[in-house]
Amino acid sequence: MYFPRKSGVKESFGRRDSLWYRLRMPFRAPSGTEDILPDRVPLWLRVEETVRRLFSSYGYRELRPPLLEYTSLFHKSTGEVTDIVEKEMYTFGEGKDALSLRPEVTPSIVRALVQKGLFGRQNLWKIFYLGPSFRRERPQKGRLRQFTQLGVEALGSSDPRIDAEVIRLYAHFLDELGVTRYEIRLNSIGCHDCRAGYREILRKEITPKIGEYCDHCRTRLDRNVFRILDCKGCREKTRELPLAIDHNCASCRDHFALVEKSLEGISYTVDPHIVRGLDYYTRTVFEFTSDLLGAQDALAGGGRYDSLVGNMGGPDVGAVGFAAGVERLMLVFDALEIGVEGERPDFYAVAVDDSVRGDVFRIANQLRSADLSGDLDFEGRSLRAQFRTANKTGARHVIVVGPDELGRGNVKLKNMSGGEEEEIPVGEVADRITRAGK
Ligand code: HAM
Repeated sequence: MYFPRKSGVKESFGRRDSLWYRLRMPFRAPSGTEDILPDRVPLWLRVEETVRRLFSSYGYRELRPPLLEYTSLFHKSTGEVTDIVEKEMYTFGEGKDALSLRPEVTPSIVRALVQKGLFGRQNLWKIFYLGPSFRRERPQKGRLRQFTQLGVEALGSSDPRIDAEVIRLYAHFLDELGVTRYEIRLNSIGCHDCRAGYREILRKEITPKIGEYCDHCRTRLDRNVFRILDCKGCREKTRELPLAIDHNCASCRDHFALVEKSLEGISYTVDPHIVRGLDYYTRTVFEFTSDLLGAQDALAGGGRYDSLVGNMGGPDVGAVGFAAGVERLMLVFDALEIGVEGERPDFYAVAVDDSVRGDVFRIANQLRSADLSGDLDFEGRSLRAQFRTANKTGARHVIVVGPDELGRGNVKLKNMSGGEEEEIPVGEVADRITRAGK
């Protein structure tokens, strides 16, 4: 009987998972990084395939920027006074030649489009990406130092419907993968002008009470007051502060109203406390969260950034996008027991005794050349043991190669679903297996 191997189930090595064993290991992956083991890869492939298919179907095209960028790119875009830039980047070298492993992908996408002059070719660029990002954070469940982001950026439009489109796209993506336990939180933090006014309101409100805030917030009051809103330690105080959404201009309010209208049929809540920890956001901001994740509950985050392209030397155009952590998605898959069946190979070829091992090798390779998938034994194992492996791999057919049958130019072919076994000419095996189908 074939038991499909669910790749949603994590590979476990019993004793090898123990603290004792881990402490004795001479080499370990750096903390905050993960190996994706073979049983798990089919699930990753499913995510990658779904991104490429679904995102393309909404008109987004893939862009693959480098993992290394000039550090100054992130200072200029993510923001000088943000946690990411102040303390979380892996940076090499100094001064204007300093390079950093990208902590996020948005700045690279904007840089690439501006650098290559692509806005001269068309106004609207709808881009998606999938790949690693790096942040020197304190590792914990769902928080890694190397993690994988998938995301989209729609650059060149201020239409509120495209804010709704990117949100709808990620909701569609989660639904396709069977993820149902998530919430969408939405906010509007205003345009450049609203933000200037709100900055002053915040300063006025916080300054007399700054003694009650943590040291870190104190340094941020003058340098970047918005980032005080991100401080987890001062949350009780920041919750009492005036809200950005209450200080939006008429045009930002209209924009947000149309975003909401365009989200008809999607369930979301307006959460005025969503601020996002990066500097470039304007107007719409949003997060997808899941209670299955624990403290690091953001499955995805994004929003509009209408000044960034212009600030980076490009045209003055609006943009919006999001990024999602794939490792966090994997945690949700585990919690919901979402897995992918391993691929069943077409055949496993077994040798009845050692005299025919060369023939088994030859036959297996002929079948592979005929586009069939399958394997054979390379460990000199007994016939019984070879059958056990055949079962484990889930092969659809077992080819039994014995000296007697070979003498007649034949092998035995056993269909593992039906159980019947037949002696047939070697030359007919490929055709038989192909005709039996998947
Ligand atoms: P972010 O909120 O910093 O936004 O990251 C987006 C997502 O990446 C998070 O919601 C989370 O799922 C994942 N993530 C972030 N840090 C880690 C980590 N240390 N370990 C595991 N997963 C993590 C951005 O990066 C923006 N570039 C999103 C965006 C695109 N905004 C507009 N366009």
